[in-house]
Amino acid sequence: MPAGEEHKNLETVNYLWKSFLENGLDRKSTVIALGGGVIGDMTGFAASTYMRGIDWIAVPTTLLSMVDASLGGKTGFDLPEGKNLIGAFHPPKLVLADVNFLKTLPERELISGMAEVVKHGIISDPELFELCKNGLSWVKDNLEAIVKRAMAVKIKVIEQDPYEKNMRATLNLGHTVGHAVELVSKFDLRHGEAIAIGMAVEAKYSAKVGLASQSIVEAIESTLKKLNLPVEIPNEMSHAEIIKAMRVDKKKNAKSIRFALPVEIGKVELIDVDDLEDVL
Ligand SMILES: NC(=O)c1ccc[n+]([C@@H]2O[C@H](COP(=O)([O-])OP(=O)(O)OC[C@H]3O[C@@H](n4cnc5c(N)ncnc54)[C@H](O)[C@@H]3O)[C@@H](O)[C@H]2O)c1
Repeated sequence: MPAGEEHKNLETVNYLWKSFLENGLDRKSTVIALGGGVIGDMTGFAASTYMRGIDWIAVPTTLLSMVDASLGGKTGFDLPEGKNLIGAFHPPKLVLADVNFLKTLPERELISGMAEVVKHGIISDPELFELCKNGLSWVKDNLEAIVKRAMAVKIKVIEQDPYEKNMRATLNLGHTVGHAVELVSKFDLRHGEAIAIGMAVEAKYSAKVGLASQSIVEAIESTLKKLNLPVEIPNEMSHAEIIKAMRVDKKKNAKSIRFALPVEIGKVELIDVDDLEDVL
């Protein structure tokens, strides 16, 4: 399949279904998704619907897909109106994450994946957050430890709440603003870069409404910067467009949008917000 978020669409999923048929896959077959999050999300979705659902195995090859996308069973694809609007919960039977794959990963992709690692630290592993403060070259020498710890955070959350009834929504930290910024950038920003911006903006909002202290905001911003991640919404981006994109995002409910806001390093709270301009 061609690389890139712009191919995470129904056309590619259709191509997968047809390939499954052409290659004689039946209800007992298992599909192996070898690749990053885009490949995993679409392969998992195609498997979830092919002949009413067949098994799949995730072999994530990007940092982001190892620590995040391959875990938790969310599969799907994008519509022009927004990311991941169509999908299904269909967990892989097995996730095989081998950090040797990361040796060939472009640096920008590695940095993008670190945004989700930082996120997992903020959600529930202050020690992991501390490790991220060591910066990019330390991280490169300690990938196995980082990947194991970051996977453990997500596994803990999804085991407690597999279908996002409550606490799984804490994993959306940085994602409400982040997804919107990613969409408005027309995917010029990598997923993790957009999430880094989202985390910084949402942390500032959390301080503004009195949930987090200024020192938390500074810790989050400086850690992201040490990993060469962006923390500001690009100047040329229109707030109106970002707000529109946030409203389409699947995490909205009727009147307000639910944000996962950092309270301290290791703790996140779910808060409904009406005034989105105030967040930006
Ligand atoms: N399902 C979930 O819970 C979940 C969670 C987070 C993100 N996601 C999704 O994951 C996607 C982003 O995933 P991603 O960051 O892995 O991006 P990606 O799948 O687009 O991969 C990034 C790039 O790296 C290349 N690549 C992959 N592995 C490589 C390797 N080992 N060496 C060299 N190049 C390699 C790919 O060809 C691609 O060009 C988004 O669509 C996002 O919505 C899903």
